[in-house]
Amino acid sequence: MRVAVLISSRGSNMQALVNACKTEGFPAEIACVLSNNPDAAGLDFAKANNIPTKVIDHREFEEREEFDAALSDYLASEKIDLICLAGFMRLLSAEFVNRWRDRIINIHPSLLPAFKGLHVHERAIESGTKFTGCTVHFVRPEMDDGPIIAQAVVPILQDDTPEILAQRILVEEHRIYPLALKLIAQKKVKVHGSIAKISEATEGSGSLTNPAVDT
Ligand code: GRF
Repeated sequence: MRVAVLISSRGSNMQALVNACKTEGFPAEIACVLSNNPDAAGLDFAKANNIPTKVIDHREFEEREEFDAALSDYLASEKIDLICLAGFMRLLSAEFVNRWRDRIINIHPSLLPAFKGLHVHERAIESGTKFTGCTVHFVRPEMDDGPIIAQAVVPILQDDTPEILAQRILVEEHRIYPLALKLIAQKKVKVHGSIAKISEATEGSGSLTNPAVDT
């Protein structure tokens, strides 16, 4: 399975996916790391790991649809099977999402459908909820919506700042994103309406959430 990872800045989830794909027998390869931001730090990691990189700068397009069309055409020309959004800070048009339906996934730092959108960690702390987490899901035209593939639960502690909480969640993001990718590449994930069904658990996993599973 040829995977493109789309980033806008740091790219730590992209790094987790690249590292997972390097493990023996992993059923997917990162064929391309693409960014809308020429200064995205993650591009350096990709280059250092001999992954082809591509920048399509959204500021060079007047309309969102034109940017999305350029993105889509590039991904198609690279024969990409699956798009992984990993901190990609552009909203994608319905046309783009529908063209790649069930072939785009995203990671979000909350237990969706709770806390969609931005400033997620701050909002989770302010809500007083005791647990939050992260979610890998198929992308739909509505923001942070779509069938859920994997989630992990993370506690919110009394003295958490958004930064400390983000760091605790990030550890789980780096675990479940490669797991979700592996399940899709193994063709174990089927979408039925709004639900993603996993045909069988990965060996030794028992669960797609906590406790930690071996990816
Ligand atoms: C992650 O928290 C991810 O869940 C969210 O954006 C952040 C990206 O971080 N969508 P990184 O660029 O992968 O380090």
